[in-house]
Amino acid sequence: MQAFLPFTRPEIDEATIAGVAEVLRSGWITSGPQVKALEAALSERRGGRAVRTFNSGTAALEVALRIAGIGEGDEVLTTPLSWVATANVVLEVGARPVFVDVDPRTRNIDLDLAEKAITPATRAIIPVDLAGLPVDRDRLYDLAKRKHLRVIEDAAQSFGASWRGKPLGSFGDLVCFSFHANKNITSAEGGALVLPDPGLVPLCERLRLQGVERSGEDGMEVDVLGGKWNLTDVAARIGLGQLVHLEKFTQRRRNLARRYFEHWDAGGELPVQDFEQSNWHMFQVVLPEKQNRAAFIKRMREQGIGIGVHYPAMHLFKLYRRLGWRAGQFPNAERLGRSLVTLPLFPAMRDEDVDRVCEAARKAFK
Ligand SMILES: Cc1ncc(COP(=O)(O)O)c(C=O)c1O
Repeated sequence: MQAFLPFTRPEIDEATIAGVAEVLRSGWITSGPQVKALEAALSERRGGRAVRTFNSGTAALEVALRIAGIGEGDEVLTTPLSWVATANVVLEVGARPVFVDVDPRTRNIDLDLAEKAITPATRAIIPVDLAGLPVDRDRLYDLAKRKHLRVIEDAAQSFGASWRGKPLGSFGDLVCFSFHANKNITSAEGGALVLPDPGLVPLCERLRLQGVERSGEDGMEVDVLGGKWNLTDVAARIGLGQLVHLEKFTQRRRNLARRYFEHWDAGGELPVQDFEQSNWHMFQVVLPEKQNRAAFIKRMREQGIGIGVHYPAMHLFKLYRRLGWRAGQFPNAERLGRSLVTLPLFPAMRDEDVDRVCEAARKAFK
């Protein structure tokens, strides 16, 4: 029996492990020089834009909403086909998430439908680059400009992806990344927010840590309610160790994705073949309607292969049903939410592992 192949696995090198040990010995383990170094490195890779880190991508999204001034009475457009954090943060700030169906091809928010869903209360849109495939930034920002919407990019999955040759985060409004363990680069848990204007840094930093503003040797003031969302130096050191491998990791993911396209013959709907812009965070296949997903996952596991589920359409969760959302409202997201599976894809995978997944899937399809 071959070793179990998970759907994803972080790749942490020995230099990073040694670096973390150094941080642990340094006497400064929470936010400090490593956090500053990570923010500087991220900023440098985002055209010099101001970047601040957080202890999760969720925190980055919530702070972005607060910076945009989104709150009670406001509506925020988003996709139902995402990790539930995307809409939960809208509730956290007291606003209303307004779901919009996805394009069945890209599996990302349908921007024509988004435009139709705009009301006088709509203040912002949170697009999600599912699996790392970028939402059309030209159309997104055209819509935002015409309709005076703030854009909070949920680029949690698309760090390393680009639009027309420009890395996501190097342009646009408020751009949020996640460095959760599953992501293309990780800090175990963590996130970052790219700000459209350096003048927002002080507010961003206050919102990140209890609203506290320090001055002089001993001054302290609080005039906004902040959270406890700062990244630790331990985590930041992991992030720094990962960042240097980003291009190599992305290239490897692209090559593995190409191999899936060459070898997959088990049926279903494959993702958009984008080898320019996507960071191939995930390789997701839509199972045919008649294929029971749980049975497929079980049969793959029996063959030593882990399959992920990302994600059930979130408007059907009890929390969102209680707010009035119903089955049948977003047929594309609902169908995808029932039938998408995430195949193994991570940089340390070998070419033969892809072949093994494809062969196992052929046997698992019944
Ligand atoms: C699309 C999307 N949004 C938001 C998040 C939240 O990021 P984090 O888990 O770092 O809080 C994730 C993480 O899985 C995600 O995939």
